[in-house]
Amino acid sequence: MKTLACIVGARPNFVKMGPILAALKPYSRQIRPVLVHTGQHYDAAMSDLFFRQLHIPKPDVHLRVGSGRQGEQTAKILAAYEEWLLGAKPRPSATLVVGDVNSSFACALASVKLDIPVIHVEAGLRSFDRTMPEEINRVLTDAISDLLLVSEPSGIKNLAAEGRPKSAVKLVGNVMIDALRDHLPVARRQQTLHKLGLSPNQFILWTMHRPSNVDDDRTLASWIRAMQDIGERVPIVFPVHPRTRARLAANGTWAKLTNRSGITATEPLGYLECLSLSSQALAVVTDSGGLQEEATVLRIPCLTLRKNTERPITVSQGTSTLVGQDSDKLIGLIKEIRNDKYKRGRVPKLWDGHAAARIAEIVARFISS
Ligand code: UD1
Repeated sequence: MKTLACIVGARPNFVKMGPILAALKPYSRQIRPVLVHTGQHYDAAMSDLFFRQLHIPKPDVHLRVGSGRQGEQTAKILAAYEEWLLGAKPRPSATLVVGDVNSSFACALASVKLDIPVIHVEAGLRSFDRTMPEEINRVLTDAISDLLLVSEPSGIKNLAAEGRPKSAVKLVGNVMIDALRDHLPVARRQQTLHKLGLSPNQFILWTMHRPSNVDDDRTLASWIRAMQDIGERVPIVFPVHPRTRARLAANGTWAKLTNRSGITATEPLGYLECLSLSSQALAVVTDSGGLQEEATVLRIPCLTLRKNTERPITVSQGTSTLVGQDSDKLIGLIKEIRNDKYKRGRVPKLWDGHAAARIAEIVARFISS
């Protein structure tokens, strides 16, 4: 029996790990997964709720690392995971990390330094924008991973360009979509729209939390102005990430926003509530990678508040358009959507709800070899 340490830390990790743990069940004679939560996200709304809604088992190990500056948080996770690995009996045969958050890179580094191989799910994605903390995490995690499981063809090309061996790279599809397909029927039965006084196809779901959009007061203010302008014509639901909320509170915008008609600012939403909204929205405005992917599969227009994306297939095949920091472009595109002139795209290959099964099969072979 081999032990596989499965790492989660931040919200998008929980969504991806749920289907992977479920798909590993048929291999329970070969692989014992140990779920490790770093504690990068710790609020009930950012963590516990996701475990409950996605039916993820309670973590076997909780490192309780919490928030911190980029380097500080990464270092704390690195040290805590290394310490756990050193005491773990039996020592895991591999560490599986998902995505690009600080927890993914820090645990990959601790693992590989102890000669424990690393499996990276969602490998190869590149925005080519090294000002993003996630891009640094992606490049570094891929450089030290032994098995690279890729969600879209651009990942294969990027990993080849970085000299990663072809034999280590496998296109498995998008595991986030497995979660979506599993939970969509339940999500649609939620009373989220009703509770917020919204009608299907007549509201915009808006989320933003990236440092590039929220850390600079001028940029944040210009997005809030655009939101107010658009909100006069189409109701907007704005679930506010703690990072964004802290910035809005610090610059005095939060109080004004919560009184504004047309905009409903809410606490961060659970997975089901968010999916209930995204699947019935007129459009999604976001800087989230996961929402770009989900909107593509749901065929809901997605206006992405970024200059680049590490998920180019959501633009070339899916429903996403990169808006950069151009609020006039955003307002123009909303008009197009309201006039039913916007592309609906198509669902990328292997975004079919079976990525986790492919991952489990490859992981079982890798870990037994
Ligand atoms: C992290 C990921 C990002 C991902 C996002 C999803 C990195 C570098 N970034 O960004 O890729 O899209 O998660 O949400 O790993 N906070 C709370 N409660 C929590 C967690 C955070 O209040 O449960 C606040 C803290 O003030 C914290 C701030 O949010 O300092 C930022 O949290 P952090 O985990 O550093 O990054 P995110 O912005 O959430």
